Amino acid sequence: MEELKYLEGNRVYLRSLTESDYGEKMVKWVNDKEVTRYLARGSRPGSLIELQAEYKSYSFNQADVVLAICDAKTNEYIGVVGLYTINPMARHAEFRILIGSKAHWGQGYGAEATELIVAYGFRILNLEKVWLGVNSENQKAHKSYTDRGFKTEGTLRNELFRNGRYFDIVRMSLLRAEFEENLLKWKSKDYIAKQLSAL
Ligand SMILES: CC(C)(COP(=O)(O)OP(=O)(O)OC[C@H]1O[C@@H](n2cnc3c(N)ncnc32)[C@H](O)[C@@H]1OP(=O)(O)O)[C@@H](O)C(=O)NCCC(=O)NCCS
Repeated sequence: MEELKYLEGNRVYLRSLTESDYGEKMVKWVNDKEVTRYLARGSRPGSLIELQAEYKSYSFNQADVVLAICDAKTNEYIGVVGLYTINPMARHAEFRILIGSKAHWGQGYGAEATELIVAYGFRILNLEKVWLGVNSENQKAHKSYTDRGFKTEGTLRNELFRNGRYFDIVRMSLLRAEFEENLLKWKSKDYIAKQLSAL
């Protein structure tokens, strides 16, 4: 499905979703306790029918842009990333990412997918702010966002109940000016310049 490539990086490309992306593979991911360890998702069993409804909802509304993350070398579908509940007046959106393929963890795939979709949000959707909520104990995710310039807005105490206890959620955001400043340090900056700059 290379023909559906939408944004390209070095290790990953992001492509349009297809119905099968919200199929068996995704069912496996959302029921994998390691994958959902720090998320709200996973508290209830995920089903195919529920995921198919989710896919349809993303396809038919303008408020969410969700893309499949693929390994650029093998074309393997490894996860999803998106900007959700896009608010056209205040021009902000929520960032979320899930790399379900654990074999791909810790090798820069998540960081690169984050850079590409965030740049898309500012440069194409004309957002002023991209925000997110991260479990305070999800060190890898938290480091990735901090390293890309996201700032903490506050802590939502005991916001998430998972596996018998509460977790704090850290709300973070990146403003447009901060994005432009941090972009200079991003590994994907040349890919972003090539695809998301005025010609
Ligand atoms: C969180 C997630 C997106 C990170 O993606 P990834 O490809 O595994 O991580 P990356 O290799 O891109 O590393 C991200 C950062 O974490 C750092 N890191 C990697 N492993 C780490 C670890 N075990 N502990 C702390 N930091 C770590 C890296 O150095 C990197 O920082 P840098 O890019 O500034 O150098 C991915 O693991 C995932 O989807 N997990 C399951 C769902 C989830 O937790 N989603 C996030 C919800 S907020």
